[in-house]
Amino acid sequence: MNHEDTRTVLLTGATSGIGAIAARKLAATGATVAAVGRDADRGRRLAEDATAENPGTVRFHRADFATQDAVRRLAADVEAEYDRLDVLAHNAGLSTRERTITDDGAELTLAVNHLAPYLLTHELLGSLRDAAPARVLVTASGVHTRGTLAFDDLRLEREYSALAAYARSKLANVAFTIELADRLDGDGSVVANCFHPGFIPSTDLFRDAAPRTRLFVRLAAAVPGIGTTAEAGADRLVELATAPEYGSRSGLYVGDDGPRDPAPAATDPELREELWRVSADLVGVDPDWP
Ligand SMILES: NC(=O)c1ccc[n+]([C@@H]2O[C@H](COP(=O)([O-])OP(=O)(O)OC[C@H]3O[C@@H](n4cnc5c(N)ncnc54)[C@H](OP(=O)(O)O)[C@@H]3O)[C@@H](O)[C@H]2O)c1
Repeated sequence: MNHEDTRTVLLTGATSGIGAIAARKLAATGATVAAVGRDADRGRRLAEDATAENPGTVRFHRADFATQDAVRRLAADVEAEYDRLDVLAHNAGLSTRERTITDDGAELTLAVNHLAPYLLTHELLGSLRDAAPARVLVTASGVHTRGTLAFDDLRLEREYSALAAYARSKLANVAFTIELADRLDGDGSVVANCFHPGFIPSTDLFRDAAPRTRLFVRLAAAVPGIGTTAEAGADRLVELATAPEYGSRSGLYVGDDGPRDPAPAATDPELREELWRVSADLVGVDPDWP
C-alpha cells in the first residue's frame, strides 16, 4: 500500500514513553507516521487509536534492533510501503543490567542505541534525499557527558556496568549526529540534529535496570519537580522534526533551552571518524558514505 501524505516520519521506539506520545503528536500535525517497536500489541493499539483520533496516519512496524537483519528488513519495508520519507527519528533505546552480546557479535546497548540508527540511516539516506529537504534526528541524552569510547573494548569485556554502557551509546549518538551533519554539509538537502529530552522517570527505559535503580526511578517519578515529563520530551522530538528553525540548521545538540555544547568527546574529529569507521565495519557497510 502506498501513502501519499505530504510528510512521512519514520519514528523508532514508538511503542512506549517519549515515542508513543510523539507518534500521536506527529499524527496530530497530519503526518504519516511509520511507528516502530518490538511490542506488537502496544504497537497495533497505538496505530489504531492515533489514526482514529488524528488527521494523520500511524502504521506499526515491528522490529527488534538487536539484529541487523531486522534493521535492514525495516528499511526495505519502509521503502516499499511509503512514497516518501521526510524525517527519520531515531528514538528507540534501552539500558540493560547484564552484559549481552547480540547474534551479530556486538554489545547489546551499543547495537540497539547506536548501530541500529547508523545502519538505518545508511539504508534510508537515499529516500530522505529524494524527499529533500529532509531531517534525521536522534534522541540522545545528557548522560553522554559521562560516556567514554574505548575502541579496543567495544564488547565491554574488561568491565561492564549498565550506566557505562548506556552513557557510551549516548555519546555515540551525539558523535554520530555531528559526524553525519558534517558529512552531509554542502549537500543542503538533509540535516541531522540530536537532543536531550530531560530526565524522565515515568518512562519504561529502566525496565531492565537493577532493583536499586528501579526503586530510585520509581521514587523519582512520584516526587513532583524531579525530572520532566514524557510529554515534554515528546514535544522536543516533535519540534526537531517539524520546526522550521531545525530544518535549516544541522549538527546541533539541543537541550532544555535550545542548542548547547555537547561533551568535547562528541565533537572530537578523531573520535567521530573512528566511530564512523568502526560502526561501518560492525554493520558490514562501506565506511565511505554518504
Ligand atoms: N527516560 C529518560 O530519562 C531518558 C533520558 C534521556 C534520553 N532518553 C532516551 O529517550 C529514548 C526513548 O526512551 P524512553 O525513556 O521513552 O523509554 P521507553 O519507554 O523504554 O521506550 C523505549 C522505546 O525503545 C524501544 N526499544 C527498546 N529496545 C528495542 C529494541 N531492541 N529494538 C527495537 N526497539 C526497541 C521500545 O520498544 P518496546 O517497548 O516495544 O520494546 C520503546 O518503544 C531512548 O533513546 C532513551 O535513551 C530517555
